This record gives sequence, structure tokens and C-alpha cells, in this order.
Amino acid sequence: MPATSASTCPPPSPPCRASPMKLSTVSRSRLNLRPLDWTGLERRFMNESELETLVALVASVKPKGVLEFGVNTGRTSKAILRHVPGIQCYQGIDVLPGYVTERLVQRKEVPEDPGHLARGDSRFHLVLSAQGSLDLTAADLQRCDAAFIDGDHGRRAVEHDSRLARQLVRPGGIIIWHDYHDLGNVDVREVLHEQAAAGANIQHVKGTWLAFERVAG
Ligand SMILES: C[S@@+](CC[C@H](N)C(=O)[O-])C[C@H]1O[C@@H](n2cnc3c(N)ncnc32)[C@H](O)[C@@H]1O
Repeated sequence: MPATSASTCPPPSPPCRASPMKLSTVSRSRLNLRPLDWTGLERRFMNESELETLVALVASVKPKGVLEFGVNTGRTSKAILRHVPGIQCYQGIDVLPGYVTERLVQRKEVPEDPGHLARGDSRFHLVLSAQGSLDLTAADLQRCDAAFIDGDHGRRAVEHDSRLARQLVRPGGIIIWHDYHDLGNVDVREVLHEQAAAGANIQHVKGTWLAFERVAG
């Protein structure tokens, strides 16, 4: 008689929700991080050295056009415009008051005065809409060389913004996502794992919540 009869077998494990795969990683020492001038910039929403990492990633493609999903106050837009030479056009998208983010953790992030920190720069163009990027198609935006996806971190928007970025970023450019982490309160990680499993070459910058994909040139 077998040691374990059918009646004593443990029940099958429930299906695993979070995909177990990991993205390949790049260390920050492989990127050209430079100190930033933080004058007039707030530190909200970014962990230690993340803004420096993001600026290095954007600068690595020498962009003429940059697109940011979810500009909030415009702090990151201002930092990128200040530190990355050669940018001619910076499009920043956000929502109108009253928008409700898919994930609870983001519900207090909708800004009262979106983009105000970057407004004085003539290269900065604010795109506001009731549902933000979800109201937009590629025809509503200019093509660009770097896209930073940091708007609604719910599945629907992350998938939509990734699709839009892939339509808009020119060959040789870069797509960067924020909030790639395993806290479980947003959907970025799961969506990026699915995209990587489907063949996208998305890499994680070790020690940060940033992930990126270089668009084949
Ligand atoms: C974490 S904050 C962005 C922080 C900003 N990128 C920075 O680095 O300072 C998220 C922003 O996304 C905006 N947002 C939420 N849903 C959006 C959507 N569907 N389209 C565009 N922006 C959205 C929020 O209003 C908020 O300003």
C-alpha cells in the first residue's frame, strides 16, 4: 500500500497570482549617474538616487522629444529639462480633478496644479484630459525618443500607456516605467512580467523601482 493514499494527499496549490519570473537586472554603476541640481525640486515619489537614475536613462538616448505619463507637479519634467541637453519638446500628461485611479494607493496623487514646476519652460507642453492618457491615442501626441510611464499604475492604464509609448518612441529610444516593485498595491510588476514573457526586453535597474526597454534602432 502506498505511504500516502489519495485521501491524505494535500489539496493542489491555488494558482499563483503574481508571476514568479523576474526581469533581468542592470546595476546603477553601468549607467552614467551624475549629481543633480535639486534647487526648486521636491523629493516626493522618488526613492534615493532614482531621479538621478531616471535622468541618466533618458540622457542615454540623447532625446529631442520626451513624453511623461503622469507629470504631477512637474518636478521630474523640470529635472529632465534642466539636466538632459538637446530636448526640444517635452510632453507631459495628467488628469483633471475628479479622476479616480484604479488602485487605492494612488487616489490622493491627483495634483491641484499639474505641471506647474515646469510651466515656465517653453519646451514643456501639458496635455490634460479627464481620464488622462486613457483618453489619448498616438494621433494626439508627438513622436518622441524617451517615454516615462508614471501615471495610473492600475493594469488598464499600464497596458494602455505601454502600448502608446511603443507606438510613439522612435527607434533607438527608450521606455521607462516607475513603480516596478513587489509591494502588491499596483499592477506595474505583473504587467511588465507579462510583457517580458511575451518577448519584450525589459530590464530592471537594481535597487530602484525603475524598469526600462530600449527600442531597437
Ligand atoms: C506618482 S505621480 C507622478 C509623479 C511624477 N511622474 C514625478 O516623477 O514627480 C502619478 C501621477 O499620475 C497622474 N495620473 C493618474 N492617472 C493618470 C492617467 N490616466 N493619465 C495620466 N496621468 C495620470 C496622477 O494625477 C499623478 O499626478
